[in-house]
Amino acid sequence: MRQFQTRPVRALALAAGLLAACAAQAATGPFTAQQAEEGHTKFNNHCAQCHRPNLQGATGPALVGDAFKDKWAGKPVADLRTYIHEKMPQNTPGSLADDQIDPITAYILSKNGVQPGDKPLSKDSASGAFPK
Ligand code: HEC
Repeated sequence: MRQFQTRPVRALALAAGLLAACAAQAATGPFTAQQAEEGHTKFNNHCAQCHRPNLQGATGPALVGDAFKDKWAGKPVADLRTYIHEKMPQNTPGSLADDQIDPITAYILSKNGVQPGDKPLSKDSASGAFPK
């Protein structure tokens, strides 16, 4: 009797493992590890005064966590990128160039658990979704 039970259990565990692998792959972002790294310094220079170096928020809201993800995850990365480009930093909106916006956006994605991929983030590659 016992042997009849273990097989489906194993099959289920295998299926769950495969699903988890797929989910992990889906969470690969349209940015490189190097971009996220660069973005860390730029974030600290331009954004951390209001969003804190740990992104938990102060004058500005938290840029990590459930509330942030509820708002932005599952949508094109371009939505977030454009928002940052046009509205942030709140005291000097539109002041940052693409080569600052891209790494900063990459850094925020990485802090929300999105894994880097091999394609750098740019205006043209930001159409993919911010993985949930
Ligand atoms: C002077 C303070 C200040 C600075 C500097 C600043 N922000 Fe903000 N940020 C805010 C405030 C305040 C809000 C909320 C605006 C609103 O709700 O209209 C906000 C909102 C945001 C949001 C939307 C959050 C949400 O919950 O939807 C993002 C993303 C963001 N900021 C990113 C950045 C980035 C990236 C930088 C640096 C380039 C930056 N901010 C710099 C004050 C700031």
